[in-house]
Amino acid sequence: MKIFLDTANVNELREVAAMGLLDGATTNPSLIAKEKRPFRDLVEEICRIVDGPVSLEVVATDTEGMVQQGRELAKIAPNVVVKLPTTAEGIKALRILGREGVKTNLTLCFSPTQALFVAKAGATYVSPFLGRLDDIAHVGMDLIRTIRKVYDNYGFETKLLAASLRNPLHVVDAAVAGADVATLPFAVFQQLLKHPLTDIGLKRFLDDWEKAGVRI
Ligand code: E4P
Repeated sequence: MKIFLDTANVNELREVAAMGLLDGATTNPSLIAKEKRPFRDLVEEICRIVDGPVSLEVVATDTEGMVQQGRELAKIAPNVVVKLPTTAEGIKALRILGREGVKTNLTLCFSPTQALFVAKAGATYVSPFLGRLDDIAHVGMDLIRTIRKVYDNYGFETKLLAASLRNPLHVVDAAVAGADVATLPFAVFQQLLKHPLTDIGLKRFLDDWEKAGVRI
């Protein structure tokens, strides 16, 4: 499973890239707004840091506007993936951009039928939002499992990108369910790496070493 970071923060992206674990990044208008930096300058820097696909989202809601913004976004860097909402207008924009060779990520997907339609229309990625379904007492992971089954039944090539992941268990379950990609907030990435026994074990080694006065 590929690991993307769900952030527009360049320090977070650099940290994960330095470990060689950054396969890509996803952003959305809320994440971009949080950074309080000029858009172009920010996303160009993100695209330089990330050696992999970077999803940048349109903010238009009509097909023509989405296509126009998508074309502009795609010109920013070769690794840009244009993120479009899973709406009728978004699917029309996906068809047009797809024919022009632009990669697309259909976002805010909350049902298997939406996922089926965007795959039929040729989306590069589909982003089902697990956490937001859990928030309304639906089991978000069931959506990933169902989409995986549907895509495998018919050999769709659209990549299943598990989004809105909120904790380490979401990541494990997404991997078991066969998601192609998990996009994680930086805090979840850190939780995945951290283990109290590693910290305790390291401290014990260093204390013993110090007590014995050994030097390298
Ligand atoms: C994915 O592309 C979205 O940016 C993201 O996963 C949304 O997560 P949230 O529901 O925690 O805001």
